[in-house]
Amino acid sequence: MRKESILVTGAAGEMGQALIYYLTEHGSPSILALDVNPVPDKIKKRCHQAITGDILDEKLMDRLISEYALPLIYHLAALLSKRGEFTPEAAHRVNVDGTFRLLQMAAEQSDWIGSSVKFLFPSSIAVYGLPNLETKTQAGAIGESEWNMPFTMYGCNKLYGEHLGRYYAHHYRQLAADSQQHPVDFRSIRFPGLISAFTLPTGGTSDYGPEMLHHAAQQVPYVCFVREDTQMPFMVMPDAIKALIMLECAPHENLTSHVYNVTSFNPSAGEMLEPIRAAFPDTQVTFQPDPKRQKIVDSWPVDLDDSRARHDWGWEPDYDRERAFDEYLIPTISKRYTV
Ligand code: SER
Repeated sequence: MRKESILVTGAAGEMGQALIYYLTEHGSPSILALDVNPVPDKIKKRCHQAITGDILDEKLMDRLISEYALPLIYHLAALLSKRGEFTPEAAHRVNVDGTFRLLQMAAEQSDWIGSSVKFLFPSSIAVYGLPNLETKTQAGAIGESEWNMPFTMYGCNKLYGEHLGRYYAHHYRQLAADSQQHPVDFRSIRFPGLISAFTLPTGGTSDYGPEMLHHAAQQVPYVCFVREDTQMPFMVMPDAIKALIMLECAPHENLTSHVYNVTSFNPSAGEMLEPIRAAFPDTQVTFQPDPKRQKIVDSWPVDLDDSRARHDWGWEPDYDRERAFDEYLIPTISKRYTV
């Protein structure tokens, strides 16, 4: 008998840790955690098994399939937009080949289990690419089908991952005599920049937001790599986890798309600094834009239109900017660095 579990790839990453914490606080599901980096002990002990390994390791994946039934997969493993621009080929391998492998596995699992495996895929604001700052400012909040012209390997990979998921959900082996009885139930969310009070992101371009906050809380000077007037949407990690869970739980018949924008607030870098400086008066932040990284953020929208998610599955963030800083980020991070 295979052990029934929820598979979380990228389990040692920011979102992976927060998701596993949430899932195990709310019920006690069996979690199979997978990451190329070791999963921290405090998260590992919440899992049925935490494996340090590569989603591209065929032998490892075959072993997992033989040992586990996986009706729900959160495929979070990815190389983000900054890392991806130093090693685009590695990003393609992890973000595209890895996603392809996981979707294949989900299709096989759906056949064996006899019902559609749910496949949750975090996509990103990086799938958007606005050609210049003027267009970005004029466009305002954009919908899912607009400006799908990413500047980064990560953005290209995520956009293709969404299409692969749609293919597996609707058209997989469409001409074969024995076409799929239980197609993969693929659901994807395009997240804005994410901020957690507990962890720092690695390898992204929206990292200036969380980095400013974590440096200030530790009284370490920070050089911000974008202009003070740079604007893009952000969301705190508890809302990101809430969105993933809401989409996972949404009745299939309510979903009109495989891809949903979500967002909550969209401060400029300067506006982001205000509540940080108010909480930590010794904050030292200087703005020294790096033209190359600036160009990437300038290609991302000022805001996202998340009305599709609001309509289809009742999406609403718990944290606007004020609540995010006053009730989550500042109090939690203050405790974290003073203990
Ligand atoms: N946080 C991501 C990045 O900066 C965007 O989704 O790459």
